Amino acid sequence: MDALFPFGFPGPTAMYLTFYIVTGVIYGVFMNYTLAGAILLAMGRLRPFLGSRWARPGLIEKVVGDWLPAMLGMAITTGVAPLLFLQILHKQSFYTANLLLFHRFMLFLPALIVAYYMLYLLKSKRLDVWGPWPPASALTIVVLCFIFVAWAWTENHLLSLHHELWGEFYGSGRWFYADAELWPRLGFTVTVSFATLALVVAWQFVWGRGGHETSSLDLAARQLRLLAVVALATSAAEAVLWFLWLDTPARAALRSSLAMPYAALALVGITLQAACWLPVKSGADLTAKRLGLATAGAVAMLVGAGVAREARRLAAVDLGSLLESHRHAAAVGGITLFLACFLLNAGVIGYCAWLIKRDIAMARPSRVN
Ligand code: HEM
Repeated sequence: MDALFPFGFPGPTAMYLTFYIVTGVIYGVFMNYTLAGAILLAMGRLRPFLGSRWARPGLIEKVVGDWLPAMLGMAITTGVAPLLFLQILHKQSFYTANLLLFHRFMLFLPALIVAYYMLYLLKSKRLDVWGPWPPASALTIVVLCFIFVAWAWTENHLLSLHHELWGEFYGSGRWFYADAELWPRLGFTVTVSFATLALVVAWQFVWGRGGHETSSLDLAARQLRLLAVVALATSAAEAVLWFLWLDTPARAALRSSLAMPYAALALVGITLQAACWLPVKSGADLTAKRLGLATAGAVAMLVGAGVAREARRLAAVDLGSLLESHRHAAAVGGITLFLACFLLNAGVIGYCAWLIKRDIAMARPSRVN
């Protein structure tokens, strides 16, 4: 843990670690949008119950509602790439946790199917004819499904770090793994997801600027600023909380030369994003230059947090015995095929996003109020 990540590892291991982080960041953007977007929409659906003054959905909800099913599809697709590298890198720790939690963990698949179906039902507006309750209930189910999935991945990750507990866990036949680290970790995921959502939605506004009423856009820009700044501040606080929660060896791993510069990078990323958001007062302030800088901050935050998270795992899992298997895997030559499939998929996803944008623009009767 003395050299900066990933340089202290042999070439093949360093390559897989890098791919794991890079593909994890891409997946993280879509997962964050999906998770925060669903929570945001669900909260919006509860507004009519507060009185008619609050009943009108805002521009952010309109955009997120249009895009959420597609974003979920992208999260599921992009999630496969880090999963592939994770399996090559960590083998038994990942597989064992997976098998120990198997029936429970795999429930995330039906949960995602239910959420997917609900999102399309909501988008079709079929539920709206029965009043505010059915759509609000459907969105609550979606949020519960996503929280369950997030919790299942976090629980699986944590169980994979504690090999000393595997025997006892198996013997007890339990379906749930409880760990005090779970909540600060999950809390960080949820809050940081709102900062990513705010940024992506801001880009979506820039992308479709011509179609939005100026006053709605101004209000939405201020709401995004509030969302982003609160999310960034809470995430920074939760990252500290998570750090304090860890045991001494795990903390030492985060303070090591391998991880410390990345933890600092994450904090710089958070600060940069906050600095970009704070002066935003209207839609005109959402310029490509400002959002480009904020995006650089978001990438720094996601990469930094990803490496810090991985450093915690590297301290708990013995990677030394797996170096030879990484070398062997790299010699097989699948990376070229992976990169070809990656580019192909990126192109198809980009094309689908363009189709969605075009269809949303065509479906818009006039400017959105
Ligand atoms: C909306 C659905 C999803 C949500 C909310 C979600 C949430 C999460 C969260 C919170 C983590 C971090 C766990 C931690 O660090 O403790 C995570 C990790 C991960 N997720 Fe997802 N996830 C979703 C869907 C998926 C899907 C469909 C896949 C795969 C096809 C996937 C692949 C992964 C992988 C590979 C990791 C890294 C696990 C590790 O490093 O141990 N996720 N996910």
